[in-house]
Amino acid sequence: MQHKKLKIFLDSANFDEIKSINFVEIDGVTTNPSLAAKNTQNKENRFEEYKSVLKKITEIIAGSVSAEVIATDFDSMMAEALDLRKIANNITIKLPCTKDGLRACKELFENHHIDVNMTLCFSPAQAVLAALNGAKYISPFVGRLDDIGIDGLDLIADIKQIYENYQFSTKILAASVRNINHIIEVMKIGVDVITMSPSLLESIYKHPLTDKGLEIFLKDWNK
Ligand code: E4P
Repeated sequence: MQHKKLKIFLDSANFDEIKSINFVEIDGVTTNPSLAAKNTQNKENRFEEYKSVLKKITEIIAGSVSAEVIATDFDSMMAEALDLRKIANNITIKLPCTKDGLRACKELFENHHIDVNMTLCFSPAQAVLAALNGAKYISPFVGRLDDIGIDGLDLIADIKQIYENYQFSTKILAASVRNINHIIEVMKIGVDVITMSPSLLESIYKHPLTDKGLEIFLKDWNK
């Protein structure tokens, strides 16, 4: 059986938060405009501030750091993407699964050899278009589908099956993962990457029986 590595990405645009994780290796980082806004002060200068945060993150994270464009039309997306990519070689450009986003994905892949993470994916058909256009990663959003009463895990399983049927090399990056059950289920399906908030990552090792067991051990030890 072929060995497959699971990668853990942090979903954060907060440098200090990212730097503070010291109990598991972080393979990459994903950011988005909401996270960027939360971690920048000045609306007028937000894009430049976002770039400075990304620069600092790329200095401590060797793997992929997703930087999302704000523009929605093809030409402006391309301009922003090329600007963001100048920050560092490990910047992956994040584009929404729209018509212009798909066009920009193809252009960045074919003519600039830049890795793209296609985001805001809510259907397997969008995931197929992303793969056909050369996306390095597809980001299906699990939690946001659950929020509207659709099982987000089905989306992950469907994409996995379709990608296998056609041997697409685009990596499945489980996004909008909100709880430990999501994490366990997407690993059972066999995703390549899981991105999660630092607080969710921190909650993984916590278990009431671990705390209780430790308390008993220490009590016994000190008897
Ligand atoms: C992924 O790239 C997104 O930034 C993120 O996972 C969205 O998660 P949310 O739906 O919890 O905001």
